[in-house]
Amino acid sequence: MIGQLSDEIGADSSSATMKLIGAWIMKIAWALTGAGHLLLESVELLEEVAGRDEHQVTVLLSGAGEEVLKMYGLFNRVKSLTGGYYQELVLEKDQMWSYPISGRFSLGRYDLLIVSPTTSNTIAKLVHGIADSLVTNAVAQAGKGKIRTLLVPVDLESGDVETVLPSKLELDLCQNCDTCEAAAACPPDAITPGVEINLLKCQGCAACQVACPFGAVSGGSIITIHMREIDVANSRKLQQLEGVEVIQHPNEIKNHLY
Ligand SMILES: Cc1cc2nc3c(=O)[nH]c(=O)nc-3n(C[C@H](O)[C@H](O)[C@H](O)COP(=O)(O)O)c2cc1C
Repeated sequence: MIGQLSDEIGADSSSATMKLIGAWIMKIAWALTGAGHLLLESVELLEEVAGRDEHQVTVLLSGAGEEVLKMYGLFNRVKSLTGGYYQELVLEKDQMWSYPISGRFSLGRYDLLIVSPTTSNTIAKLVHGIADSLVTNAVAQAGKGKIRTLLVPVDLESGDVETVLPSKLELDLCQNCDTCEAAAACPPDAITPGVEINLLKCQGCAACQVACPFGAVSGGSIITIHMREIDVANSRKLQQLEGVEVIQHPNEIKNHLY
């Protein structure tokens, strides 16, 4: 449906917003950076926005965003939402060093850029005007193209917050079995028995958690982490950036859609 509509409008439509059959279809770019915090919440909302075909959503993943999505078993969920013109899955590694996709932002082709979740790394770069990654470049060019930008920082409030871990080998429970059932069950061979899980190989499928008879692989454990003052201060500075709106939680994004 959306594919047809965009064909009718044409690739060079000067207005990014299309009003057809009485409904607004927004052209949205949604960037995910490499944060585990607020990641599931962001993906769930992305599914709501992109999955119902109400809006046309391009998904951008920072290099770390791609890795972290895989670790939490969420990459394929995000990938399945993409496909088609202005509904691409844009990976940092495919954009090389100059991020040609950013031209869409400087030309004002989108109605909205969302970055959720936004890591402290990306925020620190943004508040210093750095644009040397896929996502920081998209935000910078969105500013030039006067595209409204919503950011959900992971480090907004001082103090301690609870966050969720990907799969983890719990060595105090590991029995060092002759044959490690968890390692045998792991499709990408990410587990070194009795040692660790290589998270860069892990696909977050949780087969290891099911296979280990001693419960020595945890997944989704909650830990408490301390928000560093420099990260909180950077998140506050972000609010002063032209064209940028900072919001606290991915759920608030809904209030900004037509
Ligand atoms: C499992 C995992 C979870 C992470 N969660 C966070 C997080 O919640 N917040 C954060 O700022 N960085 C987090 N990081 C670190 C970032 O991925 C790292 O700083 C990366 O360089 C960010 O790059 P990006 O800003 O280009 O996405 C996490 C890393 C891993 C491996």
